[in-house]
Amino acid sequence: MKNSGLQYQSGLGNEFATEAIAGALPHGQNSPQCAPLGLYAEQISGSAFTAPRHENLRTWQYRLLPSASHSPYRKIEYGLIRTAPCAEVAIPLNRLRWNPFPLPLPTTPVDFIDGLMTVATNGDARLQRGVAVHLYAANQSMTRCFYNADGELLIVPQQGALTLKTEAGVLEIAPGEIAVVPRGIKFRVEIADTVRGYVCENYGAPLRLPELGPIGANGLANARDFWAPVAWFEKIKGQTEVIAKFGGHLWAYEMQGSPLNVVAWHGNYTPYKYDLARFNTINTVSYDHPDPSIFTVLTSPSETVGTANIDFVIFPPRWMVAENTFRPPWFHRNFMSEYMGLIHGTYDAKAEGFLPGGGSLHNSFSAHGPDKVSFEKASAAELKPHYIANTLAFMFESRYAFAPTKFALDATELQPDYDTIWSGFIEADIRHPTGN
Ligand SMILES: [Fe+2]
Repeated sequence: MKNSGLQYQSGLGNEFATEAIAGALPHGQNSPQCAPLGLYAEQISGSAFTAPRHENLRTWQYRLLPSASHSPYRKIEYGLIRTAPCAEVAIPLNRLRWNPFPLPLPTTPVDFIDGLMTVATNGDARLQRGVAVHLYAANQSMTRCFYNADGELLIVPQQGALTLKTEAGVLEIAPGEIAVVPRGIKFRVEIADTVRGYVCENYGAPLRLPELGPIGANGLANARDFWAPVAWFEKIKGQTEVIAKFGGHLWAYEMQGSPLNVVAWHGNYTPYKYDLARFNTINTVSYDHPDPSIFTVLTSPSETVGTANIDFVIFPPRWMVAENTFRPPWFHRNFMSEYMGLIHGTYDAKAEGFLPGGGSLHNSFSAHGPDKVSFEKASAAELKPHYIANTLAFMFESRYAFAPTKFALDATELQPDYDTIWSGFIEADIRHPTGN
């Protein structure tokens, strides 16, 4: 299928076979004595070789040069990128909210890697548990390539479109869409305008579709709406710098030509994109307020069944029809910890202060919910069917508490008065049985 002139292959977790030049893909054998067209056969494994079949991830690539052909790694500066465990500060229990961070000045060239800023981490990348939440803001295309050995990257654009040129092919995403780049897959981000967005770096099990239980065979995000690229490659003169993230550090090496030199590939380990507008939103048609897990797009499970390393949850435009119900998110204290962002519009539990490009953090069992204005409005609202338009918020929800980085806590974008949105509630006017 085609989107913006690019060709894609439909399906999440499918076994794809694709070639940019006819005859580049061997048939019947992964690594013949000589791969077709003088190419080099190479396997990239996204799971242990012995992972169960339904979790086994690997792709065979047929390349102009083997990936192994490069100079030694050298350590480079990692700017504002942080990796768990990140013990810069004690984990604050305070509820936190940030205004959008500024875009880079036109006079300062910043590419996608330079523009990454970590706001929070949890778990431990070395143990393949937890995530990092990064923001990005960039005004220049990458000329170098990047891969991440610490985790897969879930990219959530908030402003501006990204072209991801990857080993597997080209993906284009705009605000309202997401992309996932698995561990180890090399890519380059190209942009036409200044861009900003969010990244969840997932150290844990690869993201996958949630189980549907009694919902049945259809609903939420459908597998066929996840699109993988078709094979594409570039052949360039000179050298390319490749940046690797490994063990919380950035490393660099040079290689001849481009690492995006895969002429053909087959397998199920591939980047992919998804249009959040295709999410089949499910909600009550009677009363009360289902838990926000009904909005889960993708999940990274942990060892404990039903307790995610990370859930990616969205709050898209939708009909509200519940009767006799407080419709926005209610007051709550959760086992899970929540980082929220806003792609566009407004969020129905916050009257003001939660802005597109901003974020909020509510750690495990810290009480939160609607602000006073939203509470009063929703308590008095006429409960006719109502369409919530112009909204797209999301949540990275994790079993592990998030530790904000020093950068995020020192930032002037941190709102010092966030707690006050829950002030001014009037105590219920009833008499205690003791007479007070
Ligand atoms: Fe919450």
